[in-house]
Amino acid sequence: MTDQTFADADEVAHDAAFPETVEAIRTRRSGHNFDPDEDVSEETLRELVRDATYAPSAFNLQPWEFIAVRDDERLDRLVELAYGQEHLRDAGTGVVVTGHTTPERNAERVYREWAEAGRITEEDAEERIEQAMESEPDREFAVRNASLATENFLLSAHARGLKATPMGGVDFDGVAEFLDIPDDQVPVVLIAVGPSGGEEVERLPRRGVDEVLHVDEY
Ligand SMILES: Cc1cc2nc3c(=O)[nH]c(=O)nc-3n(C[C@H](O)[C@H](O)[C@H](O)COP(=O)(O)O)c2cc1C
Repeated sequence: MTDQTFADADEVAHDAAFPETVEAIRTRRSGHNFDPDEDVSEETLRELVRDATYAPSAFNLQPWEFIAVRDDERLDRLVELAYGQEHLRDAGTGVVVTGHTTPERNAERVYREWAEAGRITEEDAEERIEQAMESEPDREFAVRNASLATENFLLSAHARGLKATPMGGVDFDGVAEFLDIPDDQVPVVLIAVGPSGGEEVERLPRRGVDEVLHVDEY
């Protein structure tokens, strides 16, 4: 394969309009080495969630919620539900990102905002609200939107010098029950987040651009 497998930090595109953003994207890691004696502050946690909410979402519906588990006993239970992944305990905070399976929950407010901003007509807003109220649950809608919010959260944590790891090796049905997640949502990802405990093992290579980029057809 002729293509580079991955751009390292020192290959960052310094000609980019936001070079530090590119650097953050390329140096982000899923951390497993957390400082077990330190937790992310509540203030910073709020900022991470704020950054997550700047993710794009279908029609700006923002169909996501973030459930932070910080209590030691409750975190122990979450570690069990993550099949014993101990780095979650060391991280000190587990954030479950849920996605709404229908646009229903926020539709009225959001479509009215579109109409008030003059971006759609009042009639269009009413029609969309009505459609949203009748829409069938769609896991893809939930997963697509919540995943984008998750990546923002991960990048924000990295930009703030924290470690954050997305976790899918989790009994999500158990998590939904444990956290009392409403029926119109699905837990999409569990994020372990906390201060760094030091170095990580070397990152594994990425598939090259020549391999993954398909132009005009597959
Ligand atoms: C959908 C998904 C599920 C993952 N599940 C876990 C997990 O259960 N536990 C874990 O430690 N890391 C998990 N990861 C992190 C991956 O192992 C990691 O992203 C991958 O090895 C690449 O490493 P990097 O993120 O450091 O670049 C998951 C990542 C994704 C996107």
